Amino acid sequence: MKITFNGHSCFTLESNGKAVIIDPFLTGNPQAKIKPSDVKVDAVLVTHGHADHLGDAVEIAIANDVPIIAPFELVNYCMEKGAKGHPMHIGGGFTFPFGHVKLTIAFHGSTTDTGAVGSPCGFVVTMDRVSVYHAGDTALYSDMKLIAPVDCALLPIGDNFTMGIADAVKATRLIKPRVVIPMHYDTFELIEQDPMEFEAKLEDSSIEVRLMAPGHSTDI
Ligand code: NI
Ligand code: MN
Repeated sequence: MKITFNGHSCFTLESNGKAVIIDPFLTGNPQAKIKPSDVKVDAVLVTHGHADHLGDAVEIAIANDVPIIAPFELVNYCMEKGAKGHPMHIGGGFTFPFGHVKLTIAFHGSTTDTGAVGSPCGFVVTMDRVSVYHAGDTALYSDMKLIAPVDCALLPIGDNFTMGIADAVKATRLIKPRVVIPMHYDTFELIEQDPMEFEAKLEDSSIEVRLMAPGHSTDI
């Protein structure tokens, strides 16, 4: 699977000629190297309604004529804006033409410009037998150990709104992925972090910490 980091919490996953984008915050994202009109995908996955995650989801879903996959209440909001949607909810999984998606718990909020849109989530996306856990904006919780096994975990380290480095290190040890990629840091002053500190704190583990610069891709 090819993973591209588009800055903040936005990743594109590609495998076998299919692609999905998660949390497509591009417009107004100082780290983003692409525009919504550059995105060609088979689905748009959104963890929660906050603007730095919902981002350009509706525009991208409409332009590509593909569904938004998100918790039920957030999908309803997106469908009212004219996008196609595939509602899911926490604990549920579904096999799409591009692969399998399962929604996990995320301890956080989920609001849009019109108010609350249900619960936030994380995703486990499996494409061609490679699995990636995108944590959304969750806090640390001990049941993260139940998400294992996954090949790769995308975890926030920015603190303030999400886990900081210390909790993301604990989360990594619970999930035990083959590779962990930190996200949700340095986008704004409030969430500036040193990802090298995250890497150093996991040096004693067999888990590979892969630091990604915005706009770059890696293979998992
Ligand atoms: Ni959020
Ligand atoms: Mn966020």
